[in-house]
Amino acid sequence: MKQYFRFVKKYKKAFLLAPLLVMVDVFCEIVQPELMSRIVDLGIQQRDVSYILRTGGLMLALSLLAIIGNVGNIWYSSQGSVGFVTELRKGLFGKIQQFSFANIDRFSSASLVTRLTNDVNILQQVVMMSLRLLIRGPLMLVFAVVIAVRIAPGLGLIIAVAIPVLMVSIFLLLRRGIPYFVQMQGKLDNLNGAVQENLTNVRVIKSFVRESFEKKKFSVSNEELMTISIRASSIVALIMPVMQLVMNLSIVAIVWFGGNKIMAGKLQVGQLMSFISYVTQILMSLMMLSVSVMTFSRAGASSRRILEVLDAEIDITDSPRAAREDRRPLRGKVEFIGVSFKYHSTGEEYVLKNIHLTAEAGQRVAVIGATGSAKSTLVQLIPRLYDVTEGQVLVDGLDVRDYTLSNLRNGVSMVLQQNELFSGTIRENLKWGNPLATEEELIAAARDAQADDFISSFPAGYDTVLGQGGVNVSGGQKQRLCIARALLKKPAILILDDSTSAVDTATEARIREALDRHLRQTTTFIIAQRIGSILSADKIIVLEEGAIIASGSHEELLKSSQAYQEIYYSQQEKEVTAS
Ligand SMILES: Nc1ncnc2c1ncn2[C@@H]1O[C@H](COP(=O)(O)OP(=O)(O)O)[C@@H](O)[C@H]1O
Ligand SMILES: [Mg+2]
Repeated sequence: MKQYFRFVKKYKKAFLLAPLLVMVDVFCEIVQPELMSRIVDLGIQQRDVSYILRTGGLMLALSLLAIIGNVGNIWYSSQGSVGFVTELRKGLFGKIQQFSFANIDRFSSASLVTRLTNDVNILQQVVMMSLRLLIRGPLMLVFAVVIAVRIAPGLGLIIAVAIPVLMVSIFLLLRRGIPYFVQMQGKLDNLNGAVQENLTNVRVIKSFVRESFEKKKFSVSNEELMTISIRASSIVALIMPVMQLVMNLSIVAIVWFGGNKIMAGKLQVGQLMSFISYVTQILMSLMMLSVSVMTFSRAGASSRRILEVLDAEIDITDSPRAAREDRRPLRGKVEFIGVSFKYHSTGEEYVLKNIHLTAEAGQRVAVIGATGSAKSTLVQLIPRLYDVTEGQVLVDGLDVRDYTLSNLRNGVSMVLQQNELFSGTIRENLKWGNPLATEEELIAAARDAQADDFISSFPAGYDTVLGQGGVNVSGGQKQRLCIARALLKKPAILILDDSTSAVDTATEARIREALDRHLRQTTTFIIAQRIGSILSADKIIVLEEGAIIASGSHEELLKSSQAYQEIYYSQQEKEVTAS
């Protein structure tokens, strides 16, 4: 709950005024039956026209005031609830931006989207409803009970029976209904998750002709949701008739006993009328309360899911020392000292085991190994996409955790294996890593990445608009744009994680030459499948199941490492058979 207060702050006024205006509305409504009974009992019976007119005028004025209170309440409730969720969304989005890869692994991005949209919308409804009904219900209830009992203490017994009967039956119904609502939320989650994953992978689904399979999967979730929703609403639908029954029985009892009292001269007709009105109000407010309880219990799940995000501990942050010293990676020397690593999500098994490795400033280091040998994991530790479990990664002699994240990541440019572009122009995408880059720098980076040629061949050149995720360029073009984007940052350390897998060998060689020529100072880590891409590296690291089994130059490894020889000769054979 405390977490939410900071999102309310900006809309304090709305959150204070909305309940106040409800009170105005309730007050005006609650005295109406009383005034009505006076018109009947005093005005009409004594034929006092001016009293009738005066009281009628007062009732009219109160009605107007009630309308003002009600409209004002709706206005401020909307403002408050919409404002609250706008701030909440901003807060959640900001929090998610700070998330480390490990944080995102834990939530999954589909679930984060559902939380940011669906769950937030549910909270908005709850806040809106709270501001409208939460004070109104109990206030009305208390006032109406007090006044009704004052009018006819003897008939109070009927209220004393009706309220518990209604409350118990609503309670019993809700107790059966609420679990369904909670389940409904879960099913809705599944449905959202399925839709999200489906849309993200829509191209794969089409190319594997799996539409009908996916459709079936969707119908299953969809129908489960329907079944539960029907159960839930059929229970809730029972509340209405039960309430009507209780109300009608109460009114019959009131008229019966009240009529006797009137005949005995102990009660006025108008008083009986207003008593009935108050009983109706009492039962209505109980009804309102039950609706509130239902909405709250439904929102509980959403709120928990939102708080999980807000409360999530961000595991990769700036250390106090980093902020104090404000250093930046300049030369680009990288050392791994006894580094071991495991992913939180996969439990106990170490993915990297006791890695010792030094890359001198300006060196080219290649990492090879089978898929799953933890090549990506190894290089991700340098820009702190994950933090080491044991040991240390040093850049220019300083632990990476002693740089601020922004200084470290500005100094270390990484082209991820799953690289992505954003919707926008090519120029925007390239400048994304370095907004201050000049046009010359932009073109130079694109040339080095062998992207300038194809960019210039587009009619709009650098202003060509890319679709979401860069759908309108080929895989190899996308990779080259990502390399250009990384180069434009002019990093001290450049990491290419299998970044040329979709680029032909000749073009790849040209990229390598350009890097050799123009980025002599930059320490470069290259992960590649093709052995041809790494022959010229200063140092080649061979990884197997998370451990370094050999390292050295190509010539050294060819002499000393059997594993390397195997990789080398098997690829040679492939090239021979291919040509
Ligand atoms: N985000 C992650 N969460 C849990 N396990 C992961 C994650 N990423 C990779 N792994 C696991 O770590 C191991 C090494 O993966 P990775 O570094 O991607 O290998 P490579 O890049 O050499 O193919 C694999 O067994 C993989 O399943
Ligand atoms: Mg990889």
